[in-house]
Amino acid sequence: MPTGTIGLSQRAALFLAALWLCIPCFVQAQSVPERFKAVCQSCHGEGGVSVMELTPSLAGQPSFYAITQLFLFREGRRSNPLMTAMAKGMSDSDLRAFSDYIGKLPPPPATAMDGLVAQRMSRGATMVQEHRCASCHGADFSGGKQVARLANQREDYLLQTLKGFQSGERLGYTTAMNETLVGITAEGLQDIAYYLAHAPRAKP
Ligand code: HEC
Ligand code: HEC
Repeated sequence: MPTGTIGLSQRAALFLAALWLCIPCFVQAQSVPERFKAVCQSCHGEGGVSVMELTPSLAGQPSFYAITQLFLFREGRRSNPLMTAMAKGMSDSDLRAFSDYIGKLPPPPATAMDGLVAQRMSRGATMVQEHRCASCHGADFSGGKQVARLANQREDYLLQTLKGFQSGERLGYTTAMNETLVGITAEGLQDIAYYLAHAPRAKP
């Protein structure tokens, strides 16, 4: 496990801690930044930059994308027991307030270029170009409106979520992502995740 990463074994404990913390946070009139710091950051990291395995950074996600995802979790249409538990108690105005807050957090910093495998970067860049990912996600992969930011997202999370879209396990608000990934090999998905986690600064 890379340093600075929190393992799966610690997640159950954090989840219980977060749930426990969450009870007062949803009944008391705490501000959204306070609630974000008390609850969401325990998994999504300080300022929404994640250091936890398989947990996405939220910082800089377009607020429309974030609210769509919170809505999908709340309605049980995006399945993740941790996040469904988080979203269940939220009102529509909570969803809006958290999403607005997330959209204003500065995006994750660019990763170091030392040690990047040039061949994987260039294979990933080619795949991304062939499949026209930037046509929806933006030339710098910063997303917009209901489309997710991908630049400098965690690689393990990107790979997991791409696999989920491809198998149909994760359903988006539309079927755009499920259709886009048809026919891409397992290695192709790995290269794409590797490239996007280090994009856009690290051009091959
Ligand atoms: C116990 C850990 C945990 C806590 C606490 C938590 N989350 Fe999450 N969150 C996750 C995980 C894990 C995922 C990814 C789920 C998946 O793979 O589908 C996620 C996904 C999300 C997403 C979708 C991101 C994307 O890129 O699609 C949003 C938005 C989100 N969380 C917001 C919140 C907010 C707001 C809070 C606080 C109220 C919160 N989360 C608290 C673990 C947590
Ligand atoms: C037709 C527009 C479109 C194209 C082309 C497209 N995407 Fe997406 N993508 C979306 C939308 C919309 C979402 C949000 C899905 C939802 O509603 O959950 C998304 C979500 C994602 C996510 C989830 C992000 C997160 O934080 O959970 C990943 C990863 C992703 N796209 C990668 C890609 C890659 C890689 C390609 C190219 C192979 C691509 N996308 C091409 C529209 C598109």
